[in-house]
Amino acid sequence: MQLKNTHSRYGLIAISLHWLMALSIFGLFGLGLYMVELSYYDEWYRGSLELHKAMGVMVIGVLALRIIWRYYSKPPADIKSNSAVVNKAAKLAHRLLYAILATLLISGYLISTADGRSIDVFGVFEVMAMPSMHEQQEDIAGIIHWGLAWTLISLVALHAAAALKHHFIDKDETLKRILP
Ligand code: HEM
Ligand code: HEM
Repeated sequence: MQLKNTHSRYGLIAISLHWLMALSIFGLFGLGLYMVELSYYDEWYRGSLELHKAMGVMVIGVLALRIIWRYYSKPPADIKSNSAVVNKAAKLAHRLLYAILATLLISGYLISTADGRSIDVFGVFEVMAMPSMHEQQEDIAGIIHWGLAWTLISLVALHAAAALKHHFIDKDETLKRILP
């Protein structure tokens, strides 16, 4: 299988980045909802937050790689059996997914670094904090983070439902071309 995308399908690099990111996002969403319910005395209180932040920073890296790779290796051509409107809607949805994800990641960074502390990524390196921009930065970024996390997951549910509809009802190549 080719590393780069071809005219008719995604290549191994885009496929690996898509599924690695999908798994990480589902994991981060579940972990996020779980950890905010813990109390200070729970054994996992600090550990879960540290894991969420470190994994989130890794996703920032994967997203950057993915966007760079997208410029280097263009996505495959539109599927011919789809109407022009469906192809346009799919492109718009993909751009929205990237934009919401980027803003969600930035808001996570702004919550975590609001008190000036850097983020420790699995003890391997640290991401420095920027000077705080607002007195209530942690609260404001927290509300944005919560809202965007739910928006992202809702859009992903639509995106996955559309992919499954193409596969099982329209019986076209949409899902197959992003699988190895
Ligand atoms: C958090 C989860 C997910 C995110 C953030 C996500 C995001 C994306 C993005 C941004 C693209 C466009 C790729 C590009 O051209 O740059 C894409 C393509 C695609 N995704 Fe996902 N995805 C997720 C999960 C899923 C799931 C669960 C499925 C299937 C059940 C799926 C099926 C597809 C398919 C079939 C394409 C190719 C669409 C086409 O060729 O037009 N994705 N995804
Ligand atoms: C795809 C990426 C991410 C997803 C899906 C995600 C999801 C979530 C969710 C669902 C919550 C719970 C929100 C609530 O109920 O109040 C949460 C909380 C949190 N997230 Fe994320 N997150 C992501 C990335 C990040 C990143 C990159 C960071 C920091 C570097 C981060 C830091 C935090 C912090 C500090 C909280 C606790 C906020 C609070 O106590 O109100 N997240 N996240």
